Amino acid sequence: MDVDTALKTRISTRVFRPDPLPENVVREILDVARWAPSGGNVQPWKVIAVSGAERQAVIDLAQTTLAANPRGEEGDRPIYPADLWEPHRSWRFKVGEDMYALLGIPREDKAARFGHLARNFRFFDAPVGLFFVIDRRMGHGQWAHLGMFMQSIALAAEARGVASCMQEAWGRVRETLAKHFALPETEMIYCGMALGYADTDAKVNSLRSDRASVDEFATFKGF
Ligand SMILES: Cc1cc2nc3c(=O)[nH]c(=O)nc-3n(C[C@H](O)[C@H](O)[C@H](O)COP(=O)(O)O)c2cc1C
Repeated sequence: MDVDTALKTRISTRVFRPDPLPENVVREILDVARWAPSGGNVQPWKVIAVSGAERQAVIDLAQTTLAANPRGEEGDRPIYPADLWEPHRSWRFKVGEDMYALLGIPREDKAARFGHLARNFRFFDAPVGLFFVIDRRMGHGQWAHLGMFMQSIALAAEARGVASCMQEAWGRVRETLAKHFALPETEMIYCGMALGYADTDAKVNSLRSDRASVDEFATFKGF
């Protein structure tokens, strides 16, 4: 698969088949993705990959934590800035509405929408979950570089027929996960990622989100 195809076919998969994803495939994906660039080559990332009993332990932990505190532990790193402004606000709203339309869940059905969101904390049934760890002392540049690494993983997976969904939702149990993995004070989990094989019959996996056109975000000067 060429890079253009991988970029265009990768989507956020939200229903996975139960088929296992062997460790050697996960290792191979990480082995390719580690060639992602980072400023000064500081490689500001660590990955915790979970499968089997460890995956289940993390899922159980999230259920318990969120049952006691449904809003979660967003802390000082909220998923979105407060009062998101245009055009980002509308883009965010539209992808959500498009997704719930495919799931057949109307806006009034808060319980069903909440139920779908809760599936994040089961990795959407994917057999493997990744957690991305960054040192709290890293600055905005290193956070951007971590993002490049994550996209590299998603593309390397896509090239192998492995579907993914990045999951900032796991930030809602950040402190609980940090304790579970015995992370030092200096480290934090930024984001999760579900990895596995897509259930291509699931309607929600046909969601193809919009993008602004090049002319909406790029300015060309001096050509
Ligand atoms: C860093 C990051 C975190 C994300 N977290 C979640 C998440 O927690 N749950 C979810 O369902 N989708 C999550 N997404 C998926 C986005 O909603 C999705 O990328 C966006 O709507 C574009 O759709 P696409 O990935 O299918 O192209 C995340 C995406 C990124 C890049």
